[in-house]
Amino acid sequence: MTRRLNVGVLGAHAWAEKAHLPGYAAYERARLVAICDVEVERAHAMARRFGIPKVYADHRALLADPEVQMVDVCTPTHTHLALSTDAVNAGKHVLSEKPLAERAADAFALADLADARGVRTKLGFTFRYSPAVRQLRAWIADGTLGELFHIHGFEQNSQFLDPDFPLRQVAPGAARDALIPSSIVGYGSHLVDLMRWCGGEFAAVCGSMRNFIPERVVRGEPGRQRILVEDGAVALVEYAAGTQGLLQTSYIAVGNYPGVELRVYGSKGAAIARLIDEHGVAETLRFARADAVEFEPFALGAAALPPGTTLATPWPELYYRNLVRHFVDEILDGTPAECTFYDGAKSQEIVNAVIRSHDERRWVDVLPSSRPAA
Ligand SMILES: NC(=O)c1ccc[n+]([C@@H]2O[C@H](COP(=O)([O-])OP(=O)(O)OC[C@H]3O[C@@H](n4cnc5c(N)ncnc54)[C@H](O)[C@@H]3O)[C@@H](O)[C@H]2O)c1
Repeated sequence: MTRRLNVGVLGAHAWAEKAHLPGYAAYERARLVAICDVEVERAHAMARRFGIPKVYADHRALLADPEVQMVDVCTPTHTHLALSTDAVNAGKHVLSEKPLAERAADAFALADLADARGVRTKLGFTFRYSPAVRQLRAWIADGTLGELFHIHGFEQNSQFLDPDFPLRQVAPGAARDALIPSSIVGYGSHLVDLMRWCGGEFAAVCGSMRNFIPERVVRGEPGRQRILVEDGAVALVEYAAGTQGLLQTSYIAVGNYPGVELRVYGSKGAAIARLIDEHGVAETLRFARADAVEFEPFALGAAALPPGTTLATPWPELYYRNLVRHFVDEILDGTPAECTFYDGAKSQEIVNAVIRSHDERRWVDVLPSSRPAA
């Protein structure tokens, strides 16, 4: 009989419905046993839709349930740290949505606590689980691309170009008259993680951030608000290995979701992964060699995709099915951990260095890592 991992989910709204819950429902080694939302009707609705037997309104009740082996935190950003800490303390394996914490030190401390408690962690860095990105990463690891010269990362789409499209969340108490780092936090955490996973440790960053649309609608608040959300950021990166990097995050760059593009140029070859939902295709991968410089499309065969998906599967489900499979397998099979809370902490530390570099108008060094990117 297949060994299965019992999963409890915290948060039963948009992203849980689109990405996390379909991921578990599709994997025969996972079993959704409980769901919790402070808006308990939402939890009931998802329980009916995904056949989840137990519903809770308080996360402590879900954590006290001995049947739950792994907890998935899919709640608003400012709650991730506290809920993940409680889950680790309850001895559960934890997958948390990004970012784990605003202060990198809190995220590092939680990574250490999880290690001390012997529980597995994973950060919800969706795009690591793109088949195109995983192929590109394999070409780096096996030397196909050679020595890495340049890495370019973008996460941009026009989600918030229309000021009347409600901004999803603003941290409670955020000052409204100063620049609020936002795309660099929400999108940049993913992008920095991808760039670090591909190119290794960052040595220094130099960033610039700006607000382009000063009045917009915020979910749950009446009318347009004056709110200086950072809706565009750029940064230069010096890698410890000497590779040059550049990155951009934008809420207002015309283009479709998710708008991730990763370009890697090495001494032997180059690859461009475009994770942009266009004309019904979730992503493309192109490849060129030093001796054949015209980029060719690289076909991602069925073996690169999670079973039951195609490149026409909506991207949240495509990537999360893959992410969830990896985490469940790591736990059940004891295989090496990948994309852990430590990686989340490191990404947050670098995002914060970009913000600091903007605030102080200078290059900021990134501290060496105590562990390599996993
Ligand atoms: N990785 C990605 O690519 C990606 C994409 C979209 C969203 N996200 C992240 O996923 C998270 C969830 O996003 P969303 O759009 O579904 O948010 P949402 O605000 O629509 O839903 C969150 C749900 O959590 C519930 N909740 C709040 N506090 C809770 C608590 N203490 N216990 C249990 N439930 C609680 C809320 O009632 C709500 O139903 C956010 O952090 C968001 O940034 C990540």
